[in-house]
Amino acid sequence: ATNAVSGALRAAATSPRGCSFSTTSASKAKVAVLGAAGGIGQPLSLLCKLSPEISELSLYDIVGTPGVAADLSHIPTHSSVTGSLPSPVSFPMKGNIGLEETLSGADVVVIPAGVPRKPGMTRDDLFNTNAGIVKTLVEGCAKFCPDAMIAIISNPVNSTVPIAAEVLKKAGKYDPKKLFGVTTLDVCRANTFAANSLGLDPKDIDVTVIGGHAGITILPLFSRVGGAKFSDAELEALTVRTRDEVVAAKAGAGSATLSMAYAGYVFTENLLRAIRGENVVQCAFVESSLTDASFFASPVKIGKNGIEEILPLGDLSPYEKMWFDKMMPELKSQIQKGVAFANA
Ligand code: NAD
Ligand code: LMR
Repeated sequence: ATNAVSGALRAAATSPRGCSFSTTSASKAKVAVLGAAGGIGQPLSLLCKLSPEISELSLYDIVGTPGVAADLSHIPTHSSVTGSLPSPVSFPMKGNIGLEETLSGADVVVIPAGVPRKPGMTRDDLFNTNAGIVKTLVEGCAKFCPDAMIAIISNPVNSTVPIAAEVLKKAGKYDPKKLFGVTTLDVCRANTFAANSLGLDPKDIDVTVIGGHAGITILPLFSRVGGAKFSDAELEALTVRTRDEVVAAKAGAGSATLSMAYAGYVFTENLLRAIRGENVVQCAFVESSLTDASFFASPVKIGKNGIEEILPLGDLSPYEKMWFDKMMPELKSQIQKGVAFANA
Protein backbone atom coordinates (compact mmCIF):
# COMPACT_ATOMS: atom_id res chain seq x y z
CA ALA A 1 0.00 0.00 0.00
CA THR A 2 1.09 3.53 -0.66
CA ASN A 3 1.75 5.39 2.53
CA ALA A 4 2.84 9.02 2.56
CA VAL A 5 4.00 8.71 6.15
CA SER A 6 7.24 7.28 4.92
CA GLY A 7 7.64 10.29 2.62
CA ALA A 8 7.54 12.61 5.57
CA LEU A 9 9.78 10.28 7.53
CA ARG A 10 12.23 10.31 4.67
CA ALA A 11 12.24 14.10 4.60
CA ALA A 12 12.74 14.17 8.34
CA ALA A 13 15.57 11.68 8.24
CA THR A 14 17.45 13.54 5.52
CA SER A 15 16.86 17.13 6.66
CA PRO A 16 20.02 18.68 8.08
CA ARG A 17 17.94 20.09 10.92
CA GLY A 18 16.36 16.74 11.75
CA CYS A 19 12.80 17.76 11.02
CA SER A 20 10.47 17.51 8.10
CA PHE A 21 11.01 20.96 6.58
CA SER A 22 9.35 20.29 3.27
CA THR A 23 8.46 23.76 2.02
CA THR A 24 10.61 26.58 0.80
CA SER A 25 8.31 29.43 1.86
CA ALA A 26 6.40 29.85 5.11
CA SER A 27 2.77 28.72 5.07
CA LYS A 28 -0.04 30.29 7.07
CA ALA A 29 -1.77 27.81 9.31
CA LYS A 30 -2.89 27.72 12.91
CA VAL A 31 -2.32 24.56 14.94
CA ALA A 32 -3.71 24.08 18.45
CA VAL A 33 -2.20 21.49 20.79
CA LEU A 34 -4.45 20.45 23.70
CA GLY A 35 -2.46 18.79 26.48
CA ALA A 36 0.57 20.78 25.37
CA ALA A 37 2.44 20.73 28.69
CA GLY A 38 2.60 16.94 28.87
CA GLY A 39 5.19 14.34 27.97
CA ILE A 40 4.01 14.28 24.34
CA GLY A 41 2.66 17.83 24.26
CA GLN A 42 5.96 19.59 24.93
CA PRO A 43 8.19 17.91 22.33
CA LEU A 44 5.29 17.94 19.85
CA SER A 45 4.92 21.68 20.39
CA LEU A 46 8.68 22.12 19.92
CA LEU A 47 8.55 20.33 16.57
CA CYS A 48 5.53 22.44 15.57
CA LYS A 49 7.44 25.62 16.50
CA LEU A 50 10.16 24.55 14.05
CA SER A 51 7.75 23.87 11.21
CA PRO A 52 7.48 26.30 8.30
CA GLU A 53 3.97 24.91 7.75
CA ILE A 54 2.73 26.63 10.93
CA SER A 55 2.34 30.38 11.44
CA GLU A 56 0.35 30.29 14.67
CA LEU A 57 0.79 27.76 17.44
CA SER A 58 -1.65 27.82 20.33
CA LEU A 59 -1.02 25.63 23.34
CA TYR A 60 -3.60 24.63 25.94
CA ASP A 61 -3.38 22.50 29.08
CA ILE A 62 -4.67 22.55 32.64
CA VAL A 63 -1.10 23.32 33.85
CA GLY A 64 2.15 24.78 32.55
CA THR A 65 1.32 26.20 29.13
CA PRO A 66 2.26 29.86 29.82
CA GLY A 67 5.78 28.66 30.67
CA VAL A 68 6.00 26.24 27.76
CA ALA A 69 4.83 28.98 25.38
CA ALA A 70 7.27 31.56 26.80
CA ASP A 71 10.09 29.04 26.42
CA LEU A 72 9.19 28.14 22.82
CA SER A 73 8.63 31.78 21.85
CA HIS A 74 12.38 32.44 22.16
CA ILE A 75 13.09 30.12 19.24
CA PRO A 76 13.64 32.36 16.20
CA THR A 77 11.18 30.79 13.77
CA HIS A 78 8.40 32.70 12.05
CA SER A 79 5.44 31.33 14.04
CA SER A 80 3.77 33.02 16.99
CA VAL A 81 3.03 30.97 20.09
CA THR A 82 0.49 31.39 22.88
CA GLY A 83 -0.02 29.29 25.99
CA SER A 84 -3.31 29.14 27.81
CA LEU A 85 -4.85 27.59 30.90
CA PRO A 86 -8.44 27.26 32.06
CA SER A 87 -7.53 29.73 34.88
CA PRO A 88 -6.57 33.38 34.19
CA VAL A 89 -2.81 33.16 33.54
CA SER A 90 -1.41 32.98 30.05
CA PHE A 91 1.48 33.82 27.80
CA PRO A 92 1.59 36.49 26.39
CA MET A 93 0.29 38.18 29.52
CA LYS A 94 -2.87 39.64 28.10
CA GLY A 95 -5.32 37.77 30.26
CA ASN A 96 -6.25 34.17 29.78
CA ILE A 97 -7.06 33.59 26.14
CA GLY A 98 -8.71 30.33 27.21
CA LEU A 99 -9.96 27.46 25.13
CA GLU A 100 -12.01 29.73 22.89
CA GLU A 101 -9.08 31.75 21.54
CA THR A 102 -6.82 28.70 21.61
CA LEU A 103 -9.17 27.03 19.16
CA SER A 104 -10.63 29.94 17.18
CA GLY A 105 -9.36 29.88 13.61
CA ALA A 106 -7.43 26.63 14.11
CA ASP A 107 -6.84 24.59 10.96
CA VAL A 108 -5.67 21.55 12.88
CA VAL A 109 -6.25 20.58 16.52
CA VAL A 110 -3.99 17.89 17.96
CA ILE A 111 -5.08 16.30 21.23
CA PRO A 112 -2.53 14.48 23.41
CA ALA A 113 -4.36 15.38 26.67
CA GLY A 114 -4.91 12.63 29.20
CA VAL A 115 -3.17 10.13 31.43
CA PRO A 116 -0.66 7.57 30.08
CA ARG A 117 -0.38 3.87 30.99
CA LYS A 118 1.76 2.26 33.65
CA PRO A 119 3.11 -1.33 33.33
CA GLY A 120 0.34 -3.93 33.60
CA MET A 121 -2.35 -1.60 32.26
CA THR A 122 -4.09 -1.86 28.90
CA ARG A 123 -4.90 1.25 26.89
CA ASP A 124 -8.55 0.56 27.69
CA ASP A 125 -7.73 0.98 31.42
CA LEU A 126 -7.28 4.70 30.66
CA PHE A 127 -10.88 5.01 29.48
CA ASN A 128 -12.40 6.26 32.75
CA THR A 129 -10.09 9.27 32.99
CA ASN A 130 -9.45 10.10 29.36
CA ALA A 131 -12.96 9.69 27.94
CA GLY A 132 -14.20 12.73 29.87
CA ILE A 133 -11.13 14.81 29.00
CA VAL A 134 -11.52 14.15 25.27
CA LYS A 135 -15.29 14.76 25.44
CA THR A 136 -14.80 18.20 27.02
CA LEU A 137 -12.04 19.24 24.63
CA VAL A 138 -13.96 18.13 21.53
CA GLU A 139 -17.03 20.00 22.77
CA GLY A 140 -14.73 23.03 22.64
CA CYS A 141 -13.70 22.18 19.07
CA ALA A 142 -17.37 21.88 18.04
CA LYS A 143 -18.00 25.33 19.46
CA PHE A 144 -14.89 27.29 18.53
CA CYS A 145 -13.34 25.62 15.44
CA PRO A 146 -15.99 23.38 13.85
CA ASP A 147 -14.14 23.30 10.51
CA ALA A 148 -10.78 22.20 11.89
CA MET A 149 -9.22 18.82 11.28
CA ILE A 150 -8.99 17.03 14.64
CA ALA A 151 -6.20 14.54 15.36
CA ILE A 152 -6.67 12.50 18.54
CA ILE A 153 -3.68 10.96 20.26
CA SER A 154 -5.26 10.41 23.72
CA ASN A 155 -5.82 6.74 24.55
CA PRO A 156 -7.75 4.56 24.19
CA VAL A 157 -7.88 5.86 20.60
CA ASN A 158 -10.30 3.05 19.63
CA SER A 159 -12.83 4.66 21.99
CA THR A 160 -11.81 8.34 22.17
CA VAL A 161 -12.28 8.85 18.42
CA PRO A 162 -15.86 7.45 18.48
CA ILE A 163 -16.49 9.67 21.55
CA ALA A 164 -15.30 12.69 19.56
CA ALA A 165 -17.56 11.72 16.64
CA GLU A 166 -20.61 11.47 18.91
CA VAL A 167 -19.82 14.81 20.59
CA LEU A 168 -19.50 16.50 17.20
CA LYS A 169 -22.71 14.84 15.97
CA LYS A 170 -24.60 16.12 19.01
CA ALA A 171 -23.37 19.62 18.25
CA GLY A 172 -24.39 19.22 14.59
CA LYS A 173 -20.74 19.72 13.56
CA TYR A 174 -19.55 16.22 12.65
CA ASP A 175 -17.57 15.90 9.45
CA PRO A 176 -16.20 12.33 9.32
CA LYS A 177 -13.66 13.50 6.75
CA LYS A 178 -11.95 15.66 9.37
CA LEU A 179 -11.72 13.41 12.41
CA PHE A 180 -8.64 11.20 12.83
CA GLY A 181 -7.18 8.88 15.44
CA VAL A 182 -3.40 9.09 15.19
CA THR A 183 -1.85 5.66 14.51
CA THR A 184 1.34 7.02 12.96
CA LEU A 185 3.52 5.74 15.80
CA ASP A 186 2.52 2.19 14.88
CA VAL A 187 3.72 2.87 11.33
CA CYS A 188 6.98 4.41 12.62
CA ARG A 189 7.58 1.37 14.81
CA ALA A 190 6.75 -1.15 12.11
CA ASN A 191 9.08 0.63 9.66
CA THR A 192 11.91 0.80 12.20
CA PHE A 193 11.63 -2.81 13.38
CA ALA A 194 11.26 -4.27 9.88
CA ALA A 195 14.22 -2.23 8.65
CA ASN A 196 16.37 -3.37 11.58
CA SER A 197 15.42 -6.96 10.96
CA LEU A 198 16.17 -6.75 7.23
CA GLY A 199 19.33 -4.64 7.62
CA LEU A 200 17.75 -1.79 5.63
CA ASP A 201 17.39 1.93 6.16
CA PRO A 202 13.92 2.65 7.67
CA LYS A 203 13.41 5.32 5.02
CA ASP A 204 13.20 2.54 2.43
CA ILE A 205 10.39 0.73 4.28
CA ASP A 206 6.71 1.59 4.21
CA VAL A 207 4.58 -0.72 6.35
CA THR A 208 0.82 -0.35 6.32
CA VAL A 209 -0.70 -0.78 9.79
CA ILE A 210 -4.44 -1.45 9.99
CA GLY A 211 -7.14 -2.02 12.60
CA GLY A 212 -6.97 0.21 15.64
CA HIS A 213 -4.52 1.38 18.28
CA ALA A 214 -4.66 -1.06 21.19
CA GLY A 215 -3.24 -4.54 21.76
CA ILE A 216 -4.24 -7.05 19.08
CA THR A 217 -6.17 -4.40 17.14
CA ILE A 218 -2.78 -3.09 15.92
CA LEU A 219 -2.08 -5.14 12.79
CA PRO A 220 1.06 -4.35 10.77
CA LEU A 221 0.98 -5.86 7.27
CA PHE A 222 4.58 -7.01 7.06
CA SER A 223 3.69 -9.38 4.21
CA ARG A 224 3.66 -6.32 1.93
CA VAL A 225 7.23 -5.29 2.61
CA GLY A 226 8.83 -5.77 -0.79
CA GLY A 227 11.31 -8.62 -1.00
CA ALA A 228 11.02 -9.49 2.71
CA LYS A 229 10.96 -13.12 3.78
CA PHE A 230 10.28 -13.20 7.50
CA SER A 231 10.15 -16.57 9.27
CA ASP A 232 6.97 -17.26 11.26
CA ALA A 233 8.86 -16.57 14.50
CA GLU A 234 10.25 -13.26 13.15
CA LEU A 235 6.82 -12.20 11.96
CA GLU A 236 5.27 -12.94 15.34
CA ALA A 237 8.06 -11.09 17.17
CA LEU A 238 7.78 -8.03 14.90
CA THR A 239 3.99 -7.95 15.21
CA VAL A 240 3.99 -8.22 19.00
CA ARG A 241 6.76 -5.62 19.33
CA THR A 242 4.85 -3.10 17.20
CA ARG A 243 1.97 -3.26 19.70
CA ASP A 244 3.71 -2.62 22.97
CA GLU A 245 7.22 -2.06 24.28
CA VAL A 246 7.82 1.40 25.75
CA VAL A 247 5.46 1.23 28.74
CA ALA A 248 7.39 -1.68 30.25
CA ALA A 249 10.75 -0.07 29.45
CA LYS A 250 9.71 3.19 31.17
CA ALA A 251 8.83 1.13 34.25
CA GLY A 252 6.06 3.31 35.63
CA ALA A 253 7.26 6.66 34.24
CA GLY A 254 4.63 6.74 31.46
CA SER A 255 4.49 5.68 27.85
CA ALA A 256 6.02 6.80 24.56
CA THR A 257 6.45 10.58 24.48
CA LEU A 258 9.38 11.46 22.21
CA SER A 259 8.62 9.01 19.41
CA MET A 260 4.93 9.92 19.74
CA ALA A 261 5.74 13.63 19.51
CA TYR A 262 7.65 12.86 16.32
CA ALA A 263 4.81 10.72 14.95
CA GLY A 264 2.21 13.33 15.93
CA TYR A 265 4.24 16.01 14.22
CA VAL A 266 4.56 13.95 11.02
CA PHE A 267 0.80 13.35 11.06
CA THR A 268 0.04 17.04 11.67
CA GLU A 269 2.41 18.22 8.99
CA ASN A 270 0.83 15.81 6.50
CA LEU A 271 -2.60 17.29 7.33
CA LEU A 272 -1.23 20.80 6.73
CA ARG A 273 0.28 19.72 3.41
CA ALA A 274 -3.12 18.28 2.44
CA ILE A 275 -4.83 21.55 3.40
CA ARG A 276 -2.30 23.37 1.19
CA GLY A 277 -3.47 21.22 -1.72
CA GLU A 278 -0.96 18.37 -1.79
CA ASN A 279 -2.28 14.83 -2.06
CA VAL A 280 -1.39 12.95 1.08
CA VAL A 281 -1.88 9.29 1.92
CA GLN A 282 -1.33 8.18 5.49
CA CYS A 283 -2.69 5.58 7.89
CA ALA A 284 -5.28 6.83 10.39
CA PHE A 285 -8.14 5.50 12.52
CA VAL A 286 -11.23 6.99 10.90
CA GLU A 287 -14.92 6.36 10.33
CA SER A 288 -14.86 3.66 7.71
CA SER A 289 -16.97 1.17 5.80
CA LEU A 290 -14.03 -1.07 4.85
CA THR A 291 -15.03 -3.63 7.49
CA ASP A 292 -18.04 -4.12 9.74
CA ALA A 293 -16.39 -1.97 12.43
CA SER A 294 -17.62 1.62 12.15
CA PHE A 295 -14.07 2.96 12.65
CA PHE A 296 -10.94 1.36 11.25
CA ALA A 297 -7.30 2.32 10.75
CA SER A 298 -6.02 2.05 7.18
CA PRO A 299 -4.32 4.23 4.57
CA VAL A 300 -6.52 7.20 3.68
CA LYS A 301 -6.10 9.80 0.96
CA ILE A 302 -6.44 13.30 2.38
CA GLY A 303 -6.98 16.56 0.52
CA LYS A 304 -7.91 20.17 1.29
CA ASN A 305 -11.25 19.25 2.82
CA GLY A 306 -10.19 16.15 4.67
CA ILE A 307 -10.44 12.49 3.71
CA GLU A 308 -11.08 12.04 -0.01
CA GLU A 309 -10.80 8.29 -0.16
CA ILE A 310 -10.33 5.37 2.16
CA LEU A 311 -8.08 3.08 0.17
CA PRO A 312 -9.10 -0.57 -0.29
CA LEU A 313 -7.52 -3.02 2.15
CA GLY A 314 -6.24 -5.47 -0.45
CA ASP A 315 -5.41 -9.08 0.32
CA LEU A 316 -4.22 -10.16 3.73
CA SER A 317 -1.79 -13.05 4.24
CA PRO A 318 -3.16 -16.05 6.21
CA TYR A 319 -1.25 -14.82 9.31
CA GLU A 320 -2.73 -11.32 8.97
CA LYS A 321 -6.20 -12.74 8.31
CA MET A 322 -5.93 -14.76 11.54
CA TRP A 323 -5.20 -11.56 13.56
CA PHE A 324 -7.84 -9.60 11.63
CA ASP A 325 -10.52 -12.11 12.63
CA LYS A 326 -9.33 -12.09 16.25
CA MET A 327 -9.21 -8.32 16.49
CA MET A 328 -12.62 -7.42 15.09
CA PRO A 329 -14.82 -8.27 18.12
CA GLU A 330 -12.40 -6.38 20.41
CA LEU A 331 -12.26 -3.36 18.12
CA LYS A 332 -16.03 -3.21 17.73
CA SER A 333 -16.58 -3.45 21.47
CA GLN A 334 -14.07 -0.63 22.18
CA ILE A 335 -15.79 1.55 19.57
CA GLN A 336 -19.18 0.78 21.11
CA LYS A 337 -17.86 1.63 24.58
CA GLY A 338 -16.95 5.12 23.33
CA VAL A 339 -20.29 5.63 21.60
CA ALA A 340 -22.19 4.52 24.72
CA PHE A 341 -20.14 6.85 26.96
CA ALA A 342 -20.79 9.87 24.75
CA ASN A 343 -24.51 9.16 24.66
CA ALA A 344 -24.94 8.26 28.34
P1 NAD B 1 1.20 13.25 30.24
O1 NAD B 1 0.50 12.93 31.51
O2 NAD B 1 2.66 13.46 30.27
O3 NAD B 1 0.55 14.53 29.57
C1 NAD B 1 -0.82 14.68 29.42
C2 NAD B 1 -1.15 16.15 29.56
O4 NAD B 1 -2.57 16.29 29.43
C3 NAD B 1 -0.76 16.76 30.91
O5 NAD B 1 0.05 17.90 30.72
C4 NAD B 1 -2.10 17.11 31.53
O6 NAD B 1 -2.05 18.27 32.34
C5 NAD B 1 -2.95 17.33 30.29
N1 NAD B 1 -4.37 17.33 30.56
C6 NAD B 1 -5.07 16.54 31.41
N2 NAD B 1 -6.37 16.88 31.41
C7 NAD B 1 -6.50 17.89 30.54
C8 NAD B 1 -7.60 18.68 30.10
N3 NAD B 1 -8.83 18.47 30.57
N4 NAD B 1 -7.37 19.66 29.20
C9 NAD B 1 -6.13 19.86 28.71
N5 NAD B 1 -5.06 19.15 29.09
C10 NAD B 1 -5.23 18.18 29.99
O7 NAD B 1 0.82 12.07 29.21
P2 NAD B 1 1.51 11.75 27.80
O8 NAD B 1 2.62 10.81 27.99
O9 NAD B 1 1.76 13.03 27.10
O10 NAD B 1 0.33 10.94 27.08
C11 NAD B 1 -0.87 11.59 26.74
C12 NAD B 1 -1.86 10.62 26.13
O11 NAD B 1 -1.38 10.14 24.87
C13 NAD B 1 -2.11 9.35 26.96
O12 NAD B 1 -3.48 9.06 26.95
C14 NAD B 1 -1.35 8.28 26.23
O13 NAD B 1 -1.87 7.00 26.44
C15 NAD B 1 -1.55 8.73 24.80
N6 NAD B 1 -0.60 8.18 23.81
C16 NAD B 1 -1.09 7.85 22.60
C17 NAD B 1 -0.24 7.37 21.62
C18 NAD B 1 -0.78 7.00 20.26
O14 NAD B 1 -0.08 6.35 19.51
N7 NAD B 1 -1.97 7.43 19.90
C19 NAD B 1 1.13 7.22 21.88
C20 NAD B 1 1.60 7.59 23.14
C21 NAD B 1 0.72 8.06 24.12
C1 LMR C 1 1.81 3.76 22.45
O1 LMR C 1 1.52 2.94 21.56
O2 LMR C 1 3.00 4.04 22.73
C2 LMR C 1 0.71 4.48 23.16
O3 LMR C 1 -0.54 3.96 22.84
C3 LMR C 1 0.94 4.55 24.62
C4 LMR C 1 0.77 3.21 25.31
O4 LMR C 1 -0.01 3.16 26.26
O5 LMR C 1 1.42 2.25 24.92
